[in-house]
Formats: sequence, structure tokens, C-alpha cells
Amino acid sequence: MLEYVLPQHANIGGTVFGGQIMAWVDLCAAICAQRHAGRPCVTAFVDDLLFKRPVLVGQVVRLRAQLRATFRTSMEIDVSVTGEDTVTGEVWPTVECRVVFVAVDEARRPTAVPPLVLETAEERTAQIAAEERRRARLAKR
Ligand SMILES: CC(C)(COP(=O)(O)OP(=O)(O)OC[C@H]1O[C@@H](n2cnc3c(N)ncnc32)[C@H](O)[C@@H]1OP(=O)(O)O)[C@@H](O)C(=O)NCCC(=O)NCCS
Repeated sequence: MLEYVLPQHANIGGTVFGGQIMAWVDLCAAICAQRHAGRPCVTAFVDDLLFKRPVLVGQVVRLRAQLRATFRTSMEIDVSVTGEDTVTGEVWPTVECRVVFVAVDEARRPTAVPPLVLETAEERTAQIAAEERRRARLAKR
């Protein structure tokens, strides 16, 4: 997902609001979740966000969402956010974030998602690590 940073996205310092980046992260991950689930999905949990470097008005925010793990009704999605200066060509990391989405039915009840097909050792390792994080998140409820 690409967003051109306009004055309405920025604070008085001319950099994008953190909350605006969070909204774009949520939207990008929602698209990813719903493409996989084939159902409407809701945000259940957002991991810590670290804002590494700002993006200014006139620059571009690039967001990339990747499904990392599936459980019964929930999915863990990584979103990486980078800034881009289209004039100089410079690209820099801005935010890395993990989001959990849950697929829901017509009554907004959690509903099963298709399992992610794990083809590589790296993908299988990512699923196991995500299962650990899922247990930790649920333990905090
Ligand atoms: C997210 C939601 C659907 C979970 O439903 P629930 O009945 O409370 O939870 P359940 O115990 O049945 O769990 C459903 C799934 O949510 C996951 N989940 C619930 N709480 C979670 C949390 N704090 N962190 C991560 N996953 C969580 C569970 O692991 C489960 O996934 P699984 O089936 O893959 O194991 C429900 O809490 C909800 O609707 N929350 C509001 C969502 C919302 O408004 N989001 C913002 C706008 S989109």
C-alpha cells in the first residue's frame, strides 16, 4: 500500500501523525487478513510499535503486510512500513509491527480461517514462533 503524505496527515512539525501510520497499518493488515480468510476480519491485537524515523509531508509511506501464521480463527500479520523520498530515491525503515486479526461470521462471531500452507523451513519456524506469541497474548487477557 502506498500513501502520499499530505498536510492533513501531518502534525505542526510537518511529519506524519503516529496515529495516521497506525491507521494505515491497520488497513493494510485488514486487506491481507481478508484476502486470506475470504471473510470480514476484525483487529484483535496490535503489538508494540516503534517509530524509528519520521516521514515528512511530500514524502511517501510504503506499507507491506505479510501473513505469518494462522490459528483456528485468527491470523498473525507482519506489517513493515518504510518512508520514501520520491525525489532523491531514498528509502528508510519507519515501523515494524505485528497485528492479530480474527475472521468473523455474519453475527460477528469468530469463524475458522484456512490454514496457511507452510512450504519452507523458515515459514514453519515463523508459525512455531507465532504460536508462542499467541499463548503469551492470551495469557494476558
Ligand atoms: C477479537 C474478537 C472477535 C475475539 O472474540 P472472543 O469471542 O472475545 O474471543 P475467543 O476467545 O472466541 O477467540 C477468538 C479468536 O481471537 C483470538 N484472540 C482473542 N483475544 C486475543 C488477544 N488479546 N490477542 C490475540 N488473539 C486474541 C483467539 O486466540 C481466537 O483465535 P483462535 O481461534 O485462532 O485461537 C472479539 O474480542 C471482538 O470482536 N473484539 C473487538 C474487535 C474490534 O472491534 N476491532 C476493532 C475494529 S475492526
